[in-house]
Amino acid sequence: MLIAPSLLSANFANLQADIEMVNQSDADWFHVDVMDGVFVPNISFGQPIISHIKKHAKKPLDVHLMIIDPDRYIESFKSVGADILTVQAEACTHLHRTIMHIKQSGMKAGVALNPHTPVCMLENVVEYCDMVLIMSVNPGFGGQKFIENTYRKIEELVILKNKYNPDLLIEVDGGVNLENAQKLRDCGVNVLVAGNSIFSDKNPAKVIEQLKQV
Ligand code: DX5
Ligand code: ZN
Repeated sequence: MLIAPSLLSANFANLQADIEMVNQSDADWFHVDVMDGVFVPNISFGQPIISHIKKHAKKPLDVHLMIIDPDRYIESFKSVGADILTVQAEACTHLHRTIMHIKQSGMKAGVALNPHTPVCMLENVVEYCDMVLIMSVNPGFGGQKFIENTYRKIEELVILKNKYNPDLLIEVDGGVNLENAQKLRDCGVNVLVAGNSIFSDKNPAKVIEQLKQV
């Protein structure tokens, strides 16, 4: 299981300290949430902040774009250090083209699905994806409650993965904690994103270690 702490819940007034904590921890990636205030009802940060995160991060940057028209910014996110770039399927009119564009730019390509978006929508592109991110909350904010029908969506995605792309990584994002991590792993999840459950704890590195061990 790969663990990707979401910096959305980190201390923005001292990001470097939280980045160092993640560097020293058992975490595998940094999950970096970009929100535009249009696709989601919140604004987070963009390329200037990510380029500073990159200077200190010793692990790959898993950049999750919750923005409309992501095609406009693919090269730009590559240039500030994104290693994996995930777009929301709902924000892409030509999803296959976007996936190929990300890969041609030298990054791993991920596609995220909102809670209401059916997994079958990916049937004809899953073979081109490096990762599919199942949103287990409506995107926009950290600290929300995990939506239970996520498990069913993961099971459906595992069927597509086995049929078309056995190397596909399945990532889950939103409301992930030590209570649901085990069940997610048992369903076939490869990457857990966690923000609030890690950064609101007194010992975030310990939570990362426990998530890693499920
Ligand atoms: C939600 C973001 C998540 C968020 C997860 O819109 O995509 O990555 O930071 O935070 P928690 O783990 O607190 O639900
Ligand atoms: Zn995210």
